[in-house]
Amino acid sequence: MPRDAKKSVSLEAGFEFETVFYSNPKKESSYRFRATHIDGKRAPKVILSNDSRIQPGQLCRVRVHSIQKPAAAERGSIVVEFVSIPKFRFDDSIYVDPVVSRQLQAMLESGLNVLLDGPQGCGKTFLSRKIAEALGMEYVFFNCSPVFEATDFLASLQMRGTSTGAVETVWVPTDILRALDSAKREPDRRFLIFLDEFNRCREMARNGIMPALDTTRKLYNPLDGTSIDIADNVLWVAAINNGAQFTGTTNVDPAQLDRFAPLKMEYPPDKEEIRLLSARHPDVNRTQIERVVTAANAVRRAKEIGVDLSMRATEEVCILLGHPNFEEFDGDPLPHLLRASFCGRFAGRWNDPASDAGLVWQTIVAAIRL
Ligand SMILES: Nc1ncnc2c1ncn2[C@@H]1O[C@H](COP(=O)(O)OP(=O)(O)OP(=O)(O)O)[C@@H](O)[C@H]1O
Ligand SMILES: [Mg+2]
Repeated sequence: MPRDAKKSVSLEAGFEFETVFYSNPKKESSYRFRATHIDGKRAPKVILSNDSRIQPGQLCRVRVHSIQKPAAAERGSIVVEFVSIPKFRFDDSIYVDPVVSRQLQAMLESGLNVLLDGPQGCGKTFLSRKIAEALGMEYVFFNCSPVFEATDFLASLQMRGTSTGAVETVWVPTDILRALDSAKREPDRRFLIFLDEFNRCREMARNGIMPALDTTRKLYNPLDGTSIDIADNVLWVAAINNGAQFTGTTNVDPAQLDRFAPLKMEYPPDKEEIRLLSARHPDVNRTQIERVVTAANAVRRAKEIGVDLSMRATEEVCILLGHPNFEEFDGDPLPHLLRASFCGRFAGRWNDPASDAGLVWQTIVAAIRL
């Protein structure tokens, strides 16, 4: 049975609720926007508004202005005005620093391109998907690492056989081009295009996408040689690893960087990482998870170790701790697993104190008193 908002709320002028509007399909109506739900439940009447601050497809908070009585054979309508865009609500599966979350929301609402910058495995890629979810946007993931030419962002040249056995070369559009095309044709749909590993593509190639990220908002379309306009219902978010430890990256020059609002990310605080890992690995003893996170943070904080330790590493140890092979282990399996999953990510050997791996092992031993 559909959940009906009629019984639980008193619909009168001034009442506030959250909903998502779309363009009103009734073209004869004098209202531009229409919604059908009140706080996630089906509304007893259609919700209408002309407030220009409403963005189709985006969750917003509205206030009832008036209730219009039903005309014959109609259900009446609720006319509302825009109040605000609600705070980002990420689910419990992710930790986002509250200040970062506020900054992110403000940047995206202001139509800025956002650059997530942080060490490996601190949640940049994961967060990008969650942002799209939180904003009710369609998520377009694009890995920039294989980009060699400027046109690779929008299409790739591929060879294929024809029915006569000949070989022809065709342009195959990327997900970015498909999204830009859909965004233009369907203004009610909203797209978040995530440019992952943005500083791992060839530096020159990156210039090709620059006009999409500034006020020009155009890109050269290799399919037909025209330029394609970037519609307002497209947001760009990119991610980079910045720092001397990342050798596979290319320099993002200041003009390229300047087209983004930068957002620095870090690993979740101890308490949050323990919460995330405990929720994901309920069978693993919590004390063991606490020791894993304590050891990881000691390694991350150690100044003499120049490389960070990803949350993938802490997750890996928890996965192994929960595996039957380690549940019935003779003694404590943690030292073995930390040597493999933590020290194994660094150069050298755990038992060579002169190497990075050895330094990591000593840090772990001191942190959790092995
Ligand atoms: N803040 C976080 N909240 C929840 N999970 C996280 C967080 N940070 C990292 N993770 C977990 O760690 C894993 C790696 O995260 P993710 O791939 O997003 O890292 P990244 O920052 O994009 O790393 P890279 O720079 O290597 O691409 C994910 O599977 C995710 O579950
Ligand atoms: Mg990533």
